Amino acid sequence: DASDIEKGTYPHYMLKEIDEQPLVMRRIIQTYQNEQGELTIDSEIINALNAADRLYIIAAGTSYHAGLVGKQFIEKMAKIPVEVHISSEFGYNMPLLSEKPLFIFISQSGETADSRAVLVNVKEMGYPALTITNVPGSTLSREADYTLLLHAGPEIAVASTKAYTAQLAVLVILAEVVAKSRNLTIDFDLVKELGIVANAMEVLCDSKELIEQISREFLSVTRNAFFIGRGIDFYVGLEGALKLKEISYIQAEGFAGGELKHGTIALIEDGTPVIALATQESVNMNLRGNVKEVVARGANPCIISMKGLNRDEDSFVIPEVNELLTPLISVIPMQLLSYYAALHRDCDVDKPRNLAKSVTVE
Ligand code: AGP
Repeated sequence: DASDIEKGTYPHYMLKEIDEQPLVMRRIIQTYQNEQGELTIDSEIINALNAADRLYIIAAGTSYHAGLVGKQFIEKMAKIPVEVHISSEFGYNMPLLSEKPLFIFISQSGETADSRAVLVNVKEMGYPALTITNVPGSTLSREADYTLLLHAGPEIAVASTKAYTAQLAVLVILAEVVAKSRNLTIDFDLVKELGIVANAMEVLCDSKELIEQISREFLSVTRNAFFIGRGIDFYVGLEGALKLKEISYIQAEGFAGGELKHGTIALIEDGTPVIALATQESVNMNLRGNVKEVVARGANPCIISMKGLNRDEDSFVIPEVNELLTPLISVIPMQLLSYYAALHRDCDVDKPRNLAKSVTVE
């Protein structure tokens, strides 16, 4: 029950939940480790994934954004094709399915009606389903064949924060365990890399003053904001934009850097904030090019880069982590930027207008 969970010294649940991310990360690493220190997942689940010819990730909102990153983890590490769908669309417009699909439902609450409608449907069709959720015994957990838990602790703020990073962690662990079961080589030690992620999260949670300042500089008076990135940075940008919209009511959109010139760039005016994520070496040059394009039209660029790829003009530099795992940490400045933008606008951070924590109607 929400009222039982203490905010402690925190002014808002959201800030508390942002700060809990390093701890949740360490808890997930521990919980998914066996006595030998190897990451492990119930073999029934691994067998079910191996038996599938294609995975269908179904989710809404932030959980959908986690699914977009999860697809990258699973395809790159475990080499199984993955489709990611918004549950409310999938339910009414089902794509042509592969011969042996397996459905993965990602839902913090495990109660989202749009996702449940799809689950009921695919179970009727006889397909296997795995739910990744924060809530043991939730509807989506009970009705699926398998469950993986997030172990993030109760998330009270409407804006999802620690559940997103927990979802990513569980998805990458799943990708790794499946990869190993197929004798695929992973060229990094995931336990070690997730430990580095947890430490980097701590550094970011200790950077609140600087991020508050950046939020004031870029977001205090604006009507709108754009988030750009390429590759997985694009997906984190989508999440950054959703966070900003839902709690600060600033109109925000996430775009793939290269797609801007196909239309969106027309919206750039003098002073329009463009938050650009630069954590991927292979597209750093192109992304920087996209920033130049918007700056030439008057945009106010806020570049958030990863150490090693950073340049003098960047507003914020995140610590270096494994390139595939950057969404786990690059999202934290997005969460904090939104938090402060909402705070500076006197918005109700934890309970934004028109929104419910879990959406139990279709
Ligand atoms: C996230 O900040 C939102 N409040 C919302 O998009 C949420 O992620 C979505 O409703 C899905 O909820 P679920 O993960 O509990 O299924």
